[in-house]
Amino acid sequence: MSVGVGFIGAGVISDTYLANLSTFPDVRVVVVGDLDVERARAQAEKHGVAEWGSAADVLAHPDVQVVVNLTIPAVHVEVSSQAIAAGKHVWTEKPLGLDRDGTSALLRQAEAAGLRIGCAPDTVLGPGFQTAKRAIESGLIGEPMFASTVFQTIGPDLWHPNPAFLFAQGAGPLLDMGPYYVTGLVSLFGPVSRVAALGRKKLEERTIQTGPQAGTSFAVEVPTTVQVLAEFEAGQQATSLLSFDSALERHGVFEVHGTEGSLSLPDPNQFEGRIAYTKGRSALSDGDWGEQEWIDVEQIGAVTGRGLGLLEMVRAIAEQRPHIASGELGYHVLDVMLSAAESAESREFVTVSSSVPAVPALPAGFDPFAATL
Ligand SMILES: NC(=O)c1ccc[n+]([C@@H]2O[C@H](COP(=O)([O-])OP(=O)(O)OC[C@H]3O[C@@H](n4cnc5c(N)ncnc54)[C@H](O)[C@@H]3O)[C@@H](O)[C@H]2O)c1
Repeated sequence: MSVGVGFIGAGVISDTYLANLSTFPDVRVVVVGDLDVERARAQAEKHGVAEWGSAADVLAHPDVQVVVNLTIPAVHVEVSSQAIAAGKHVWTEKPLGLDRDGTSALLRQAEAAGLRIGCAPDTVLGPGFQTAKRAIESGLIGEPMFASTVFQTIGPDLWHPNPAFLFAQGAGPLLDMGPYYVTGLVSLFGPVSRVAALGRKKLEERTIQTGPQAGTSFAVEVPTTVQVLAEFEAGQQATSLLSFDSALERHGVFEVHGTEGSLSLPDPNQFEGRIAYTKGRSALSDGDWGEQEWIDVEQIGAVTGRGLGLLEMVRAIAEQRPHIASGELGYHVLDVMLSAAESAESREFVTVSSSVPAVPALPAGFDPFAATL
């Protein structure tokens, strides 16, 4: 029997969720809600969902068992908390919340109510990242020692019709794009123990470049370039560049270096991608530096998109086991990012106070398109 899902938030990212969830037999979308009811109606009609309305309509709907929270970060905790109070499980877009107090209170509220919270990103549950995770766990590159990740673009004001929230508290490259990279690192290495970071801002004000509001300016509240140095409880180290200030577009760089080789992983904001490793050069003959040899790893698992983590959560509820993209993981990732923001202010290392258990791999045979419930 499929699980009933209701959406709160019918903006840009709702298209991909609505399209993907309709391909999973274990879930069915029953209602789409938004502050802007017309937007909810348009998205419901476009994707063949019979009902639409306000957030309150979604919360009151008897067939909704899981609320998908696709609102802006400033109201993530408020909307998730209302859903828990209404007796619904929650899948929320990232970040889980804006601050530690509100977010941990939300997790306690859910636990007391016996309800689940799942948190994006679920991209790292895709077959690309998961194949790489299994390869690392099998010892392909020996003991992982350090990682480097890069996300740099000119900024999402280039393409988002309503981008102010992406430059406000709760976003910027650190909290908007950081979740993909930090969740990827934590799912490989476990919890982060301490971070240091530096931040800069190219512009105090930006201008919307696309859609009906093009030409409107808005304030940039947070640093738009952040460089993070992280140390993990198990000893690994990572550097992560996150920038909305770079004319040179380069993103999805995610490399793990081990005692026996280096692995290039897929973009943690995608569900698939190239996985390749190198074992390093053998002794140079005649001073010939040539190209380093890269060996591809075959990606295993069905390819899908956003909504995979929600699907894994509803199956985990039915099987009475923990789900992978948990609120607890989302909280630790948020804590790491807030600690990095604090370090960029104080210019000191910041100890990360939360921890999280090792993040399990998704079984290779997980089939999103099978009916299991
Ligand atoms: N746009 C992307 O490519 C993308 C990708 C991945 C994740 N996300 C995440 O998804 C979330 C939404 O992003 P988006 O780009 O769709 O934003 P958006 O601004 O296009 O849409 C947000 C929607 O939420 C609605 N909303 C806001 N507050 C509400 C409330 N209190 N009750 C009901 N509805 C409310 C707004 O009316 C709007 O329709 C963000 O957390 C973002 O980080 C976005």
